[in-house]
This record gives sequence, C-alpha cells and structure tokens, in this order.
Amino acid sequence: MPVRTKELPPRPDRFGAEELAALTAALDKNSLWYWPKANETSIVATAMEAYAKRFGAHSAVATSSGTASLHVAVAASRMPPGSEVITTPITDIGTINAILYQNLIPVFADVDPNTAMPRPEHITAAITDRTRGVVAVHLTGCPMEIDDIAAICARRGLALIEDCAQALGATYKSKSVGLFGHFGCFSLNDQKHITSGEGGFVLTGTDHDYYLCHNYADKFYDRYGRNIRLQALAPNYRMSELDGAMAATQLPKLDGIVRRRRELGDRLDRELSKIRGVIPQRKPADAECSYFFYLLRIDPRIITCTRDQFLRALAKEGIPARAAYVREPIYRSYYFLQKSFFPGVWPAEVVSGRQYDYKSVSLPGAEEAVATGISLELHEGFADSDIDDYIAAIDLVAKNNR
Ligand SMILES: Cc1ncc(COP(=O)(O)O)c(C=O)c1O
Repeated sequence: MPVRTKELPPRPDRFGAEELAALTAALDKNSLWYWPKANETSIVATAMEAYAKRFGAHSAVATSSGTASLHVAVAASRMPPGSEVITTPITDIGTINAILYQNLIPVFADVDPNTAMPRPEHITAAITDRTRGVVAVHLTGCPMEIDDIAAICARRGLALIEDCAQALGATYKSKSVGLFGHFGCFSLNDQKHITSGEGGFVLTGTDHDYYLCHNYADKFYDRYGRNIRLQALAPNYRMSELDGAMAATQLPKLDGIVRRRRELGDRLDRELSKIRGVIPQRKPADAECSYFFYLLRIDPRIITCTRDQFLRALAKEGIPARAAYVREPIYRSYYFLQKSFFPGVWPAEVVSGRQYDYKSVSLPGAEEAVATGISLELHEGFADSDIDDYIAAIDLVAKNNR
C-alpha cells in the first residue's frame, strides 16, 4: 500500500466577492488607464501606496510582470552597456532576460548546494573590474544572506537588485526582502502567493529611484512633469486599473497565506532534517521564509540511488515530486551555449570588446544543487496530514536507499 493514495489538495479559493467588487468599481470608472485624470484617484497608485506601506518601503512602482519589474530596476541602475552583472544560474529566465535586455553581460556566481543560492563569498569570487551590479534571487522565498551581499555591493560601488519574485512575505532580520539593495522586484503572476493576474512591482528607496523606475516602466514619458521626457529607451510596462484592483484586493490576504505556508514549511524542515541523507534547503539565521515551493536535496554520499530514481520511488508512494527548480544551471541552456539572445550578434559582447564563452562555465555547487535537488508543491491549502505524507514517503524512500 503506498503512503498516499489521494491527490494533493488544490489551492483554496483565491478570489471572491472582494475581487469582484473591486473589478466592477474599476470598470465603473469607464477608463482602465492607470494615470489619474484631474479629480480622480488611480487604483494602481493607491494600490502601490499600500504595497510600499506593507513592505516598509519608501515607494513602489507598478509593472506589468515580475520580469518587467526586474528590467525596470536593471535599467534604472544605469549600468553602461557591456558591463557585467552577477547573478545565479538557478532562477527563472526572467531574472536573466532583464540583464540581457539592457545589453549587459550575465556572469554566473556559484551557489551553495544546500541553499541553491550564491553565498556572499560566491558573489565576491565572481567580481571583476567590469562588474557593475548584482541581481540577487531569493529562491523559493528563502532569503539570501542579503545584508552581507549588500555590504559587498556598497564597498565595491555595485548596484544591488533583489529578485523577490518568489519571496512575497519573506523577511531577513525582521525586514522584508527587497529593502536591502537599491531595488526590490516582485512578481504578481498567477502562480504567486497573491496575484493581479499578471503584474509586478519595484520597491524603491528614494524619490530619485521612484521617478526613474516610473519613467522606465512607462516609455520615459514625463507623467510627473519633471522635464525629463524621452531621455532614455524605455518600454511600456504599465499596469492597468483592472490589475491594480486585483493587486489592491489581494494584498490583505498575503499575511494569512504566508503564515500558513510558514507553519507547514518550517515543520517539514524540522522533520526532514532528522532523516539521514535528506537535506532541506538551508535557511540563514534570522530568515523567515515564505515557501513559494519547498526545496530539498538528497546527499549523494549517503543515498545510494540517483535523484531521478528517488523521484520515481516517491511517485510510487503517491507523492508527486519534481526535480530541482531548473533542469540545468542556466549557463548550460541552449540559449547561453549558443548565445542566441539576438539574431547573429550579441551587442553587449561587441560593446564589451570581449568574448564570453559559457561552454567553459561549470560551477560545482550549482551542478550539485541541480543534480540532487527535489522540489515539492507546498501551499496554504495543505493540511497537516499532507505534510505527514511527505515526511513518511521521504523517510521510507531514504531508508530503502541508504
Ligand atoms: C525568481 C523569479 N524571477 C523572475 C520571475 C519573473 O516573473 P514574471 O513571470 O511575473 O515575469 C519569476 C517568475 O516566476 C521568478 O520566479
């Protein structure tokens, strides 16, 4: 008899009367344009004030996706084309695309296999005299050691952009992620803890950065009348009033969602760390995670089967687990091996005057994290008994393969 015979639960209902009322009110305005007309308020602007307040930021700029928020932040960091930007090879491709769009060169730092994220020393090791910035990704909603990384960036004069797309509600040293660097970028796509359908936002720390992000999210038009119209190339990443209505209505739901995920995830951490050969994603001291999903890995020195065999054995026990977050470290994707970002030529490389050969990149921590990593679905709709089943199945499969 397998450990589990029923499906994992779906996410509980996420949308209700509040969303319907907010969307109807937006439609009643008879315009979905985010910039307020005289004597009107903008739903998007009001939502962003609420987001800035909730996360403890100076201000927040709405965008049309998480990738857009990252692109806006990278652009607003004003790094010269051809500069190197350090990031992680284990992330969503949106992180990397934000760097590529601005004609910058992604440089991959190695990761700690136990966190699947770079540690401060990995960032330091990747710095060259061409480095101008770092995009730090809080993978799974687990904070990086971001204050040490911020200190490195401050010492070296590097822009620090936090990719918090998976980390809504996560804190480090009691402070929201996204407040440690110059820009904190979030996604509100449908898979996230809360959603506006598609959308995102950038947390900014100063008036200057707020206006700059605003310009970069809206074609560098001069909505605020600051005499800076069309001073740089900038896309249209505006959020509509419908998405703003969703963003506003979903925000008050975040704390409850994160609280429940944290109870479940922290318990899973405690129990799995008792199983020999199983390593839950290591959390830095003073980190509170928001568990976008749950990441663990097997220790190949103790577990005798491969990760894929482990996954198949879990499936036989009724537990649908997946391989680590990415199929391969991003430097080994076709995209990077072929540098196929643009047809025929990669302008950033031309401007840099150097050749970047990603075929020669092999980072041992990233290789190990990907080869041994396992991700489990985890959300606020799980019952304690669902976690019991995860624990029982992983314990059994580990025991059978030591
Ligand atoms: C770490 C990370 N960065 C960036 C993104 C991009 O966000 P979006 O899909 O909203 O563009 C995602 C999306 O899942 C992500 O997980």
